[in-house]
Amino acid sequence: MKAVRMYDIILKKREGGELDPAEIEYWIKGCTGGTIPDYQTAALLMAIFFRGLSRRETTGLAMSMYRSGEAVDLSELPGVKVDKHSTGGVGDKTTLVLGPLAASAGVTVAKMSGRGLGHTGGTADKLESIPGFRVEMDHRDFIRQVREIGLAVAAQTGNLVPADKKLYALRDVTATVDNVSLIAASVMSKKLASGADAIVLDVKAGRGAFMKDVPEAEALAGLMVDIGKSLGRRTAALITAMDEPLGLAVGNALEVREAIETLRGGGPGDLRELCLALGAEMAVLAGKARTAAEAVKMLEMNLGNGRALAKFGEMIKAQGGDPAVLENPGLIPEAAGKTVVTAWTGGYLAWCDAMGIGLAAMNLGAGRETRESAIDPAAGVVLHKKVGQPVAPGEPLATLHHNSGSRLERALELVRRAFVIREEPPETRSLIIKKIN
Ligand code: URA
Repeated sequence: MKAVRMYDIILKKREGGELDPAEIEYWIKGCTGGTIPDYQTAALLMAIFFRGLSRRETTGLAMSMYRSGEAVDLSELPGVKVDKHSTGGVGDKTTLVLGPLAASAGVTVAKMSGRGLGHTGGTADKLESIPGFRVEMDHRDFIRQVREIGLAVAAQTGNLVPADKKLYALRDVTATVDNVSLIAASVMSKKLASGADAIVLDVKAGRGAFMKDVPEAEALAGLMVDIGKSLGRRTAALITAMDEPLGLAVGNALEVREAIETLRGGGPGDLRELCLALGAEMAVLAGKARTAAEAVKMLEMNLGNGRALAKFGEMIKAQGGDPAVLENPGLIPEAAGKTVVTAWTGGYLAWCDAMGIGLAAMNLGAGRETRESAIDPAAGVVLHKKVGQPVAPGEPLATLHHNSGSRLERALELVRRAFVIREEPPETRSLIIKKIN
């Protein structure tokens, strides 16, 4: 058999050919192991960007990436282990609510979460704003905790999918991040390696998301569901709107407070709706309910009777945090400075740009500009209005929470620019756009 050469793989893709699984495996092994130089991987990524990958190639890529590191083995835990992934949004604290909510309904949740970068936050950072909370756990503790309380949320370990680390760093500097196949393979390789039997995907569509419109989001969701299913995982996806931030709070500690309110049965309507919809998919895939409607009823009950909140308390305690934060949110860090942005005119809130609010929160210290940046857990933005609501002149639109004034002006400018007020009420689209399974 002819030896595979990286040059030929690049040429084949450049000419629009379809790579076979052995060629993809050769590339991923060589790229991760250092035998293929970065400039050749960069060239192939650009060829993929222009020529695309077929479904077969995308599945092959996810598979090879998944095999590049150590997968988490959850097989010693009984029942169906369910994971959930969101393609990233602003104010997306669903995992904080969904983990305890699904676990309170008997779903086994063994979840690996990432850290935030750029305008979107990461669940691991949000949880760490709870005093004492540890997201770094070794495998034995992780398994023990899931066995005991049915729920753990830990930070992703370094060797989960080394191929993704390598490829993402190269995509980031070669303008090849926003390719649907590369995103699908990247996300699914990590989900597969996290060891769950079932995966619920929240694929965001809108200005605050990777996928700016619904057809793009559908294409991504379809590919990810295909990859999951072809590797024997029960997989379902919801396409959901990400034009304005989810809920009202953006920033780590601020989002933890909002998640607690939601687990208590209150919280913003859109956050509650999304958590119920995703939680219902998790419960159905785990075999805890026959239909999504039946699951929603069960989950609503657990938000009302305190079971979901109590499960969050169990997780906080098990991971070293102080569960008293549930009764006394004052124990969570709070910023010293608060600056309010008010409406300059009256009418209806027609637009609140998720990307602008996310960037403002990052400038205040809530997010990382680079992987090395430190974050301020207390910083962020709290909105006072959702799109479609009436606004009177001088009414507060948002409060900026900050400890350092150094980039306050920039954040204020971003927040002011994020809001559009019009005389007529805007047309609003529903939060849950479509289900793909
Ligand atoms: N999130 C990921 O995990 N990977 C991508 O490629 C894009 C977003």
